[in-house]
Amino acid sequence: MERNIIVGLDVGTTKVCTIVGVQEPNSELEIIGIGTHPSHGLKKGSVVNIDKTIKSIQNSVEEAKLMAGVNISSATIGVAGSHIYSFNSSGVVAIKNGEITQYDVDRVLEAAKAVVIPSDREILHVIPQEFKVDNTGGIKNPIGMCGVRLEVHVHVVTGSISLIQNLVKCVEQTGIEAQGITLQPIASSRSVLSSEEKEMGVVLVDIGGGTTDLAIWKEGSLIHSQIIPVGGNHFTNDLAVALKIPHAEAERIKINHGSVLAETLNQNSHITVQGISGTKAREVQLSYVANVLGARADELFTLIKEQIQEKELNDEITGGIVLTGGGALIKGLPELGEYIMERPTKIGYPAPFGGMTNIMQNPKYSTVLGLLLESNTTKSKNTSINQNSKEADLMGRLGDSLRSVFKEIF
Ligand SMILES: Nc1ncnc2c1ncn2[C@@H]1O[C@H](COP(=O)(O)OP(=O)(O)OP(=O)(O)O)[C@@H](O)[C@H]1O
Ligand SMILES: [Mg+2]
Repeated sequence: MERNIIVGLDVGTTKVCTIVGVQEPNSELEIIGIGTHPSHGLKKGSVVNIDKTIKSIQNSVEEAKLMAGVNISSATIGVAGSHIYSFNSSGVVAIKNGEITQYDVDRVLEAAKAVVIPSDREILHVIPQEFKVDNTGGIKNPIGMCGVRLEVHVHVVTGSISLIQNLVKCVEQTGIEAQGITLQPIASSRSVLSSEEKEMGVVLVDIGGGTTDLAIWKEGSLIHSQIIPVGGNHFTNDLAVALKIPHAEAERIKINHGSVLAETLNQNSHITVQGISGTKAREVQLSYVANVLGARADELFTLIKEQIQEKELNDEITGGIVLTGGGALIKGLPELGEYIMERPTKIGYPAPFGGMTNIMQNPKYSTVLGLLLESNTTKSKNTSINQNSKEADLMGRLGDSLRSVFKEIF
């Protein structure tokens, strides 16, 4: 028997995560393998060390493969980094035969894409927001409608060709084909946001290790996306500098004792911190830790608020702010976010689905779960699974390419 194996691969600044899912006809997508490994080759979402990145990907993929008991030949990968630049565009075409076909939709999307972008950038996504047929707007799917003029408004995401190539190269070095590339906050939105939220107008804020990724939705469409080069690592660095302690100790304190709301803490609460080796442990006031983390959170939320204002999206966001990514877990962040951005703010957890264990219900897995869902939609066939049958044994011994030939024959 053959099942459809689907893979999401998130190469993040702090971790590389691989999820293997299986989609059987007429049943729910089921997760059968998970692999996470610390990442050391990225800075602010971009690859800075090829060898280290390949190693991390290899380790995470091996772990997921082992758990799933299947081979992996392709995956949908996520991209972020401060090189990403997005904008809105539009295009218009005349309809020749009175009725709109797929061909016209393709043509109008091409027209919307025909904007001048620097030669070192490539287009990652062209996402339709609405179509307009003659003078009627707000159309999601115009195929079959009558008219003489078709217009489309789109959101275009671009990125640096070489930085994207570096990432793809690292993935392909491990023997995995990049079946699709998706902007990380689009993937996270998929696993975290409900369709009502996207309809109402919502800001998804994915606070990772190296970057904070924004995706703003309204009426079910992506209207803005942006990568801000500030993430959880900056919170940790601030603590390390302020307390004069090693990075690893700062990370431990942030995760176990960190908060961004000093006012809510007892002024007498202290913790013991271990300084650089050879120095004595010290007592530090918890409210001091919260002041340091709070200042960084304040800066981040102010940046987001300014972005919303600059893009004139104030009135569009009626659904509020959803924080996700591992960096969203610092205590008090939603409360502080609500206060600064003046909108309801909550933590967004990935929605559970088939076979998902509790450990995946963590905001740091929002992106990789979204990539898995994305991969499932593109419905590219990856690889076949080896069942305990003689036929599967034979298939298992064949190379990937031969196996796909077999798939086509049988
Ligand atoms: N319980 C926690 N409390 C506070 N912070 C946490 C917690 N767990 C993880 N983090 C922080 O989350 C950040 C990592 O988040 P995540 O795993 O989403 O990043 P990433 O995907 O590797 O990075 P990026 O998306 O920027 O490339 C780290 O800065 C880490 O310190
Ligand atoms: Mg991430």
